[in-house]
Amino acid sequence: MASAKMGAVVLVSSLLVLATICEAGGLSPTYYSYSCPKVSAIVKKEVYKILKKNPNLAAGFNRLHFHDCWVNGCDGSVTIKSTPENLAEPDAFVNFMLRAIPEIDQIKAAVEAACPNTVSCADIIALAARDATGFARGPTWSVALGRRDGRRSVATDADTQLPFPNFLFSQLVQNFAAKGFNAREMIVLSGSHTFGRTHCNGIGPNLYNYTGIDDLTNPNLDPAFAAKLKKQCPKGNRNNVVNMDASPNKFDNKYYKKVLANQGDMISDDELIRGPDGASTVQYLVKPGSSWFSEFAAGMVKMSRLSPILAPDGEIRKTCQVVN
Ligand code: HEM
Ligand SMILES: *[C@@H]1O[C@H](CO)[C@@H](O)[C@H](O)[C@H]1NC(C)=O
Repeated sequence: MASAKMGAVVLVSSLLVLATICEAGGLSPTYYSYSCPKVSAIVKKEVYKILKKNPNLAAGFNRLHFHDCWVNGCDGSVTIKSTPENLAEPDAFVNFMLRAIPEIDQIKAAVEAACPNTVSCADIIALAARDATGFARGPTWSVALGRRDGRRSVATDADTQLPFPNFLFSQLVQNFAAKGFNAREMIVLSGSHTFGRTHCNGIGPNLYNYTGIDDLTNPNLDPAFAAKLKKQCPKGNRNNVVNMDASPNKFDNKYYKKVLANQGDMISDDELIRGPDGASTVQYLVKPGSSWFSEFAAGMVKMSRLSPILAPDGEIRKTCQVVN
């Protein structure tokens, strides 16, 4: 009896040693198992508390993670605020109306209260994006942890690495290829535009400056839709808000339906069906029971693993908007 117990103890401890060795190579779902075992539960609780008051912000958390990872990797740099010497990522053109930064700091404060100086902002952003997507009834995925926070946050990095809403299909493909993603993954991940909102800033070129030609409306658009959208976004307006689709708090297939009906709000939305295999891919993804959710989850996992900073490099920021 006693020796069987001993055997079990030896087995369990060797498994723990093995797990620790595996972690050393990179990110791991159990990274904070000893140092902050409740981190996932704390983040989820805070995210849900915030989203119960404002469900529309789920999309804000999702976009924040994308914009963090796409610019020099998932290093928490997207939340660092500008200083007199440095125009930081939040002030990039491409980060227009980026949301959820104060809320990430609210979550960070709850995590710090339980585990001071332990969990990175990059990991909190990754967890919050997953939880927010789940809150909106979208897919879920396992988040490997252990990212550390970077100290560089430069607006022009964001404006050279993230895609712009006036990009045509080939430019979108090129942008994603630069991060190791193919055209199908680009279309799958663009499905995030099923929730949240966009401002007329991103819609303008679709209505008034298609391919850089003044006053040209995207000729691919459903004309009745374009007329309606012009009422919501008069020429020159940047700040009016337009919901991504008819269910802006829900991660469903309505966005792909809109795109197939030639009702994309942004050029980059409409373009999903203008490239090789684009239309057939969206026609497949939109079907109930398609593999869109599982492909989306796989895409988010891949995105969340883009060039993390690993210990001993980087830092654990105390608050997410200021480097230590
Ligand atoms: C394919 C190229 C993409 C372009 C050009 C693009 C561009 C944009 C733009 C211009 C907005 C509107 C921001 C605003 O005015 O408030 C937006 C919103 C959003 N984007 Fe993208 N995006 C792309 C891909 C993605 C990807 C891959 C994701 C996530 C995986 C994503 C997630 C979101 C979400 C969730 C919103 C709504 C944000 C909110 O409600 O605050 N986007 N995107
Ligand atoms: C339309 O796009 C072109 C090329 O990007 C730009 O030079 C021009 O200023 C834009 N016009 C308007 C009204 O935004």
